[in-house]
Amino acid sequence: MTNKITNLFKIQYPVVQAGMIWNSGWKLASAVSNCGGLGLIGAGSMYPDILKEHILKCKNATNKPFGVNLPMLYPDIDSHIQTIIEEKVPVVFTSAGNPKTWTETLKKEGITVVHVVSSAKFAMKAQDAGVDAIVAEGFEAGGHNGRDETTTFCLVPDVKRKINIPLIAAGGIATGKQIIAAMVLGADGVQIGSRFAATFESSSHDLFKKVIVDTKEGDTHLTLKELAPVRLIKNEFYNEIQKAYLNGASREELIQLLGRARAKKGMFEGDLIEGELEIGQVASLIDEIKSVKEVFDDILLEIRNLEFNYSDIFKS
Ligand SMILES: Cc1cc2nc3c(=O)[nH]c(=O)nc-3n(C[C@H](O)[C@H](O)[C@H](O)COP(=O)(O)O)c2cc1C
Repeated sequence: MTNKITNLFKIQYPVVQAGMIWNSGWKLASAVSNCGGLGLIGAGSMYPDILKEHILKCKNATNKPFGVNLPMLYPDIDSHIQTIIEEKVPVVFTSAGNPKTWTETLKKEGITVVHVVSSAKFAMKAQDAGVDAIVAEGFEAGGHNGRDETTTFCLVPDVKRKINIPLIAAGGIATGKQIIAAMVLGADGVQIGSRFAATFESSSHDLFKKVIVDTKEGDTHLTLKELAPVRLIKNEFYNEIQKAYLNGASREELIQLLGRARAKKGMFEGDLIEGELEIGQVASLIDEIKSVKEVFDDILLEIRNLEFNYSDIFKS
């Protein structure tokens, strides 16, 4: 069986591993691609030469398709685009920016382009820009997020009725049942971030992975909406932000408080106090650090054991 997403990316299962700064290097991306999903290298935390190295290592580690996630706010984006084209990366997921800027250039090179959005309005704009598929990312998601707080449950069906290109749901998806729920809502596939951040193959610090496992319901919050809204674990740094809000901090003061390299500090260097710890609400369902293969096995087993008899309950 194939569907729009497996056909588009030439993969076995309609499961994309999200691009995640400081988490998704070649090891994670190639492991996911080898399991039949689509692995993405997260270029947002990589200097140009590092991205090239990860692409080359990923090619060595898998002969299956993989892609690169490119947040368009990245300052040296031209170099990344050049590397992607030179290395003939088959798929690019763009995020955090205008899809019009790079879609045509990439598509001319035969690259499949997908854009990440957090609203139906932006999904339509991305479709108009000529992308091949959309990721609709709900407010539950880890990392940077939409200001409108639209949940995956509301966003996916709304985007579905407004676009006619393949749709990938993201945000709050870590289990087989959640994948099927997203597909019932109209998604053709899913993008999973947080669950893959807590795998052995993720490049983040072990302490960060352990914190993901310990994170419970209510332990994350979407904050810094004035800058770039981001879902963070409520650690000491998060508390400092809240204190700044209570003291009526200006945008400039928030920028100063955030400083530079907080995400690297938290997720890559394992500074759980001063670092930015990005993870989704679904962390409350992640109880163990696992290998990518184990995550796939869990998901596939759960889906294969599902019995659909819900329509019987609603019979007249
Ligand atoms: C640690 C972390 C880092 C992320 N970094 C990026 C990124 O660099 N680019 C991007 O488009 N999205 C990023 N995201 C969002 C993911 O790509 C994905 O859409 C999201 O994780 C899906 O929600 P989930 O975490 O509930 O699975 C990040 C998410 C996490 C958890």
